[in-house]
Amino acid sequence: MQSMSDDHTHVQEFFTARAADWDARFPDDGPAYATAVAELGLRAGDRVLDAGCGTGRALSPLRAAVGPSGVVLGADLTPAMLEAAVRAGRDRDGQLLLADAARPPLRTESLDAVFAAGLIAHLPHPAENLRELARVVRPGGTLALFHPIGRAALAARQGRQITPDDLRAEANLGPLLADSGWRMTSYIDEDARFLALAERLG
Ligand SMILES: C[S@@+](CC[C@H](N)C(=O)[O-])C[C@H]1O[C@@H](n2cnc3c(N)ncnc32)[C@H](O)[C@@H]1O
Repeated sequence: MQSMSDDHTHVQEFFTARAADWDARFPDDGPAYATAVAELGLRAGDRVLDAGCGTGRALSPLRAAVGPSGVVLGADLTPAMLEAAVRAGRDRDGQLLLADAARPPLRTESLDAVFAAGLIAHLPHPAENLRELARVVRPGGTLALFHPIGRAALAARQGRQITPDDLRAEANLGPLLADSGWRMTSYIDEDARFLALAERLG
């Protein structure tokens, strides 16, 4: 793993405390992950990174989409989340990496797609970090920014209001992606899910 920053330490502390019961807290999310993965348009043999994979909830649908000849990688900063992924047997569906998804230890244009669920809010430098994710995806490849709950419902659950400067607001996210090597192709923000899709610019 690359050098540890204060941002990384904070993320690790936050998710280490939640790793053991992460899946039990959200037992009904599975179908939403499968639907989001389906919208990524993966084909057999594709190479895909689950950035901030956590306990690996997306790894099984990602493996199903790319088949045995494809490559599925799951990168996360928090060892406890990856340990929970192993306990759940999800390392059978993808190779787990203890790594900063914002600085993926991967070759330029080596992937067809990146799936990132619940990650973007934790990125310390979103434009720079999304640019790094663009670097490792081939032109025409895809990015899914997913959350199994919409912005308003998440804010309500957390007892806060959405503010206009919210990174994931459509008016902010489109330009952010455009500045980072992506073109937003679809945006859904409903109670049951958030899903923004983008295509890697050439
Ligand atoms: C909200 S959780 C979502 C986990 C998983 N994607 C899911 O949907 O269940 C966010 C995850 O991102 C990880 N994370 C945050 N920043 C990261 C980074 N820069 N690189 C890799 N993982 C990161 C955290 O450790 C945590 O496991």
